[in-house]
Amino acid sequence: MKRLLLSLAILLSSAMAFAGEGMWIPMLLQYNEKEMQEMGMRITADDIYSINHSSLKDAIVLFGGGCTGEIVSDYGLLLTNHHCGYDYIQQHSSVNHDYLTDGFWAMDRSQELPCPGLTVVFLREMRDVTAQVLDQVTDDMTEEKRQATINENTKRIIAEVEKTTPYKVSIKAFFCGNEYYLLLNEVFTDVRLVGCPPSNIGKFGGDTDNWVWPRHTGDFSVFRVYADKDGHPADYSADNVPYKPAKHLDISLKGAEEGDFAFVFGYPARTNEYLPAVAVDQEANVIDPIAVRLRGEILDIYNKYQEQDRKVRIQYASKHAGLGNGWKKWMGVTEGINHFHGVEKKRFYEKSFEEWCYVTFQRSFYFNLLEQFDKKYKELEPYKVAYTYLTNAGLNIELIDFAGNFAKLSQVTKDTPKEEIDDMIVSLKEASKEFFKNYYQPIDEEVAKTMLNEYLENQPADFRPSFLNEIKDVDAYVAMLFSKSMFCDEQKVNDFLEKFRLSSVKKLQKDPALVAYQSMINFYREDVNPKMKPINEELARLQRLYMKGQMQMEPEKHFSPDANFTLRVTYGKVEGFKPQDGKNYRHFTTLEGIMEKENPDIYDYVVEPKLKELFNNKDYGRYADKDGTMHVAFTASVHTTGGNSGSPILNADGQLLGLNFDRCWEGTMSDLVYDPNICRNISVDIRYVLFIMDKFAGAKHLVDEMTIVE
Ligand code: ARG
Ligand code: GLU
Repeated sequence: MKRLLLSLAILLSSAMAFAGEGMWIPMLLQYNEKEMQEMGMRITADDIYSINHSSLKDAIVLFGGGCTGEIVSDYGLLLTNHHCGYDYIQQHSSVNHDYLTDGFWAMDRSQELPCPGLTVVFLREMRDVTAQVLDQVTDDMTEEKRQATINENTKRIIAEVEKTTPYKVSIKAFFCGNEYYLLLNEVFTDVRLVGCPPSNIGKFGGDTDNWVWPRHTGDFSVFRVYADKDGHPADYSADNVPYKPAKHLDISLKGAEEGDFAFVFGYPARTNEYLPAVAVDQEANVIDPIAVRLRGEILDIYNKYQEQDRKVRIQYASKHAGLGNGWKKWMGVTEGINHFHGVEKKRFYEKSFEEWCYVTFQRSFYFNLLEQFDKKYKELEPYKVAYTYLTNAGLNIELIDFAGNFAKLSQVTKDTPKEEIDDMIVSLKEASKEFFKNYYQPIDEEVAKTMLNEYLENQPADFRPSFLNEIKDVDAYVAMLFSKSMFCDEQKVNDFLEKFRLSSVKKLQKDPALVAYQSMINFYREDVNPKMKPINEELARLQRLYMKGQMQMEPEKHFSPDANFTLRVTYGKVEGFKPQDGKNYRHFTTLEGIMEKENPDIYDYVVEPKLKELFNNKDYGRYADKDGTMHVAFTASVHTTGGNSGSPILNADGQLLGLNFDRCWEGTMSDLVYDPNICRNISVDIRYVLFIMDKFAGAKHLVDEMTIVE
């Protein structure tokens, strides 16, 4: 029976390991090559990653620190998502040039717009430095000693390598700290905005369609990387020239059929596929539901006011998108984990792990590991809940969060250098301008009432910031807060900053919004963090052991390390899915669907007249699919997560098929547990991207820069 259980679990885990699961390290792709080629790939691992000659990796970048981009011409032309370029598009937008609403296209290079602060990072090389990083580390060391040794080794290795390279050197942990890799990166800082479609194409469907299939979003924007005359990174200068990459991606106009091999190459941020059941259960059934409930209540309030007033709708659009993105995703995570029996499957696997441990005393380090996890996660829970309330209920009261910007100013004394204070005043004036531009007090008052009631009803007195314990009547407190605090009045804040003197500090310290903020922060610093930190450190140690144990138990299995914002390859097939009994999703959508969704009264579904005209005339040029329609987006069984936004999805020949931008809601649990049957990523079809550039925007000169394979 025991044997049976063990082999069943192994079967189960390796069944979970093929067909899409896994975010693979590009330098080790030779171990996946056979499977990839059996699935249809016609290129080699060496074509994807090589340090001896140019390879696809030379065309992939970390864009803006949080997304992926890819180079598509010999002149540094870069594609990423519209939602990744959003902040930079917004930066250049004003009432007179509303690029968010109208789109923007540089008709020649002189019109391209510099984006201060935007960086693009190329990975030049990766090296396994596990042995060097773990040198002198022993199993019986204390955690503290272990960490100190690792830090020392890391510092030394980086310093040594830095002497031999112009690139930025860093080391990252993989497999929960069982392996370490060194990265050589080249960072470019002159990156310019070249073009973007209007939001009703780039964000079509908005938050309503976010995380959902079928999807019709033209989620792309275009940038260009500039370098100095020698091709090296340089800060913005009119003398800089377009960067000539070692490799740019070729673009396929052939589209993809159901079942075709496809892979995504990019920067996934974070996954946790090897957690114990107790952690997954806590995430899906305790933490996420709280965040979902709190955010849901706030979003209801936003919606109510946004529907009443056009100005408010615009003011709260970005905040709504931010809160709504997590809200919707986490709902999907809970549903997915429970529907797929993710916790039970993990428990089943754990049983076999325990049996494996007790076979020989040599595995004694793993004895009781799972029990310890259970104990530690239980200990962690109330603090994690407290933290969830703090960030989702407390700090979503905008007035209080905004007051927090003034915390530093409230602590200045006669010893604070004048320049330091002057700098603070300047940046606070800036922050205040930004804040009031998008602030609507009636929303915030209602959010405050709702969130404070939530807090008082659901969190015990010793698990909430102390100011809450003095509140007798929430309505009266909120009325006091908004009448007494200067932070809801732009004029008052400006006057205060204008006339700031040392004696003003007292007034600041007494402001009830800042008092509330300080109380929240103190609660975190004194009551939450000191308790969470040692538990999390212990959990990290247990997780490292558990990871090692899992790898020892199944030596023949090819494990993929969790995502950690390093470059990865993930692969699968272009395919639709069956999210529910009786529902069967096709793998692609078309322009017809945009016309079906059109609704001039709903902001998310307004269709540009020019797009309608192109549709009516079926003026798709060479971008039409062979079925005659214009394909807009498609799904694939490729394992992706946040950070993969903007990543290229490539075909069997390594040619660009589209840009990844989302996942299907039913499979958002894939960060914790991957199910090849329902986890699908969503990409915008590259032919729709080029169609919009060429036919819609008249920016054919950009398409002409690219290498198109018909
Ligand atoms: N869900 C995607 C991601 O996690 C897209 C988010 C931006 N789009 C939006 N409608 N909020 O980043
Ligand atoms: N939209 C996500 C991002 O910006 C990618 C979607 C996902 O989480 O899979 O990174």
